[in-house]
Amino acid sequence: TVVNLDGKLVPPAKATISVFDRGFLYGDSVYEVVRTYRRRPFELDAHLARLARSAGRLGLEPAWDAPRTRRELLATLAAVPPEADPDPEAAPWNQGQLSLRVIMTRGAGELGLDPALAVEPRALVIASPLRAPPLAAYRAGVGCRIVGVRHEAPGAVDPGAKTGAHLANVLAVREARASGAHEALLLGAGGQVTEGASSNVFAVRAGALVTPPLGAGILAGVTRALVLELAREAGLPAREAPLLPADLAGAEELFLTSTAREILPVTSLDGRPAGGGRVGPVTTRLGALFRARAD
Ligand code: PDD
Repeated sequence: TVVNLDGKLVPPAKATISVFDRGFLYGDSVYEVVRTYRRRPFELDAHLARLARSAGRLGLEPAWDAPRTRRELLATLAAVPPEADPDPEAAPWNQGQLSLRVIMTRGAGELGLDPALAVEPRALVIASPLRAPPLAAYRAGVGCRIVGVRHEAPGAVDPGAKTGAHLANVLAVREARASGAHEALLLGAGGQVTEGASSNVFAVRAGALVTPPLGAGILAGVTRALVLELAREAGLPAREAPLLPADLAGAEELFLTSTAREILPVTSLDGRPAGGGRVGPVTTRLGALFRARAD
């Protein structure tokens, strides 16, 4: 792991932030997670654009602009030595790959919620080994649990912004993992499943791809957008429409998308077989198209 703190490479153990930093105190920060293929960042432009959008929604003036962020990210990546012992359980294309987390916080200041108290924004990059699901998970699929989240909770923020205020998602994953599920699927206020705690969700219904629209209160996933593009190019019918728990339970196929997971089949839901209980043909086809694009 290599850390770039405010433009300087520092040993991870020395990479520290003030206890008065608002990212720590209030989740007053935005972030992105970029991954590599063959040690090159994937979809970097889309991630940088989303980072700027997230910051804009919070009125957070980032310490680095997009060109500087790109330079710092590439410099951090270049400083990571090749992995000595790649994880044998990882899919071959994920072995030795990196996750690059870029964090922009509003910075430290006197205690108090008012963002004007922040003195100087900070920026950092953490380059660490990619933690992707094992190859077996892509072959067998994973389980998900539908979890109600407290949208009315103070601190619930614009789901379209990728902020450090992730507590609702943390608690949803806690609940999912307690039941042995890989991921939590979040139930929105209208009784619709919106997205995963750190992923987007797709179903195949009557042969067509369905995923909740951005207006449902979800993060505009970079992987989600790419999957929709690949479906369009392949002439696969796809639409953005609400998904109810029953729609998921009755779907022919289910999968999650995210930077680290790519396209990850879901074969059980709330402890029952779902998505046909196996990795379906549409998921397999999209997975192949995705691999061809990424690697
Ligand atoms: N999470 N929805 C939420 C709430 C997320 O946090 C993420 C990503 C996604 C998928 O977006 P993308 O395809 O751009 O990775 C959807 C990142 C990876 C994380 O928190 O680690």
